[in-house]
Amino acid sequence: MNDIPMADATATLRIATLADVTRLAAIHAAAFPKGEAWSETVIGLQIAAHNVFALLDERGGMMLARVIVDEAEIVTLAVEPAQRRQGLGGDLMGAALALAAERGARAMFLEVDISNAPAKALYARSGFFQVGRRKRYYANGADALILRAELGPDGTVSRIPPE
Ligand SMILES: CC(C)(COP(=O)(O)OP(=O)(O)OC[C@H]1O[C@@H](n2cnc3c(N)ncnc32)[C@H](O)[C@@H]1OP(=O)(O)O)[C@@H](O)C(=O)NCCC(=O)NCCS
Repeated sequence: MNDIPMADATATLRIATLADVTRLAAIHAAAFPKGEAWSETVIGLQIAAHNVFALLDERGGMMLARVIVDEAEIVTLAVEPAQRRQGLGGDLMGAALALAAERGARAMFLEVDISNAPAKALYARSGFFQVGRRKRYYANGADALILRAELGPDGTVSRIPPE
């Protein structure tokens, strides 16, 4: 069943289930360097957690997100290299924000490698602001930026930076 709020659904974007783990893992493996990709087992365990939802864009995009009471978190986001810059990442983000808001979240958090320019550009455009920084968080020694977006009940994002 595709229960993504209609305004944020596209013909190819839907909620993913355990039946989709092979496709989800293949997209993740195509998008991340060897060694950083998540196995089917890891993705399956994530999906099985009660507070996690998975999104699949059949064109070659996937996202996992978690909602805990009134806060949500992007767990991972991946678009196959050949499918980038066509709006898949933005579509996945829009659907995730809407679903998280529908499930009670009023803020969305994520961590991003400070050197990941494409992801940082997507997040800035989606209404995320930096609220923290973790030094040498990643295996490559890069810092992680912690970003936050404020959500309205309908999944719209406040464009006002936090104080
Ligand atoms: C980050 C990622 C998910 C973006 O996916 P995408 O489908 O290419 O994103 P979109 O096409 O929706 O791009 C939306 C906007 O983000 C920005 N953006 C995306 N890629 C960009 C790039 N390479 N350079 C600059 N801006 C970029 C642009 O503003 C873009 O809008 P535009 O194309 O109209 O200019 C994709 O590059 C990816 O999978 N990267 C590897 C995995 C990863 O880093 N995941 C995130 C970990 S935190």
